[in-house]
Amino acid sequence: MPERAPRREWEYQQLEAFAGSKLPGAMVGLVYGRRRQGKSLMLHLLHQQMGGFMFAATQQSERQNLTDLGEAYARFLGLRHAIAFRSWSDALDALLNLGDEQPTSVIIDEFSHLVRTSPALPSFLQSALNPAKRHTRTRLILSGSDLPTMSRLLAANAPLYGRASLDLIVRPFGFRDAAEFWDIREPELAFRVNALVGGTPAYLAMCGGSAPATMEAFDTWGGAPDPEPGKRHVPRRRATPERGAIDHQAHALCRSHSGPERGMPSAVGDRLRAGTAEHPYPVAAHRNRPH
Ligand SMILES: Nc1ncnc2c1ncn2[C@@H]1O[C@H](COP(=O)(O)OP(=O)(O)OP(=O)(O)O)[C@@H](O)[C@H]1O
Ligand SMILES: [Mg+2]
Repeated sequence: MPERAPRREWEYQQLEAFAGSKLPGAMVGLVYGRRRQGKSLMLHLLHQQMGGFMFAATQQSERQNLTDLGEAYARFLGLRHAIAFRSWSDALDALLNLGDEQPTSVIIDEFSHLVRTSPALPSFLQSALNPAKRHTRTRLILSGSDLPTMSRLLAANAPLYGRASLDLIVRPFGFRDAAEFWDIREPELAFRVNALVGGTPAYLAMCGGSAPATMEAFDTWGGAPDPEPGKRHVPRRRATPERGAIDHQAHALCRSHSGPERGMPSAVGDRLRAGTAEHPYPVAAHRNRPH
């Protein structure tokens, strides 16, 4: 694991400041963003740096997550036997007490899985954060990629409204950060790669670990990841230009692979699909290739 998450300095500083805050009382922070943006990576790095407790929930029943949490909690405290939490109230009380002596970060990754199976969990947390918790300095970080669930936690009518001291949205890289991350120096090539795959850091590894070396190599670049993880995409087979004269392969790829429903966050792709943009970049010449 890298010691730092490249191009995430700002986000990481927010996490460090939150976890290291000397303020009295328990504090809650939310971290959320689309999948594969590096939330877990940053949280693992923070955990390595700051210590404290970390638990990653999974898509399983409430009871099973409570059991796993009790085991992780006992391991953290060096207890010989797992703790059997009877309810989320018990579990949250125990977690919030971990900061009794000093600021202690308590990270729950994939918190949205827990809320899905236990919709009352945010209310239990609200109760657990009552003024009696003034003595503890637990820094509770709740992370998740289910955006509707996570952003609802802080809505005006939600139990945690006004309670979060950190509201960190981990977004895809913007154009400049993406270009640095992909190590592309030529602006137009960086633009094309960004238009095609967007700013999700995980796609670098999924694209074979490198960008096309030159503009010429872009058209035959086998890198664009399939929206289905694990499957490498071969561009030529997917190039299906739908608009007569517009036959540039990259343009077709942007249309066919970007946009919310394809899972690739790319502003250019969104606009192309919505029909509000034609060519995002100059096309040197129309080349008629067999598809
Ligand atoms: N800034 C970065 N630099 C290098 N690699 C990164 C960066 N951010 C993420 N990655 C890599 O991308 C992959 C996905 O990251 P991670 O699992 O942390 O994302 P996530 O936001 O937690 O996704 P999910 O919501 O699906 O759990 C990992 O292999 C991770 O190492
Ligand atoms: Mg994650």
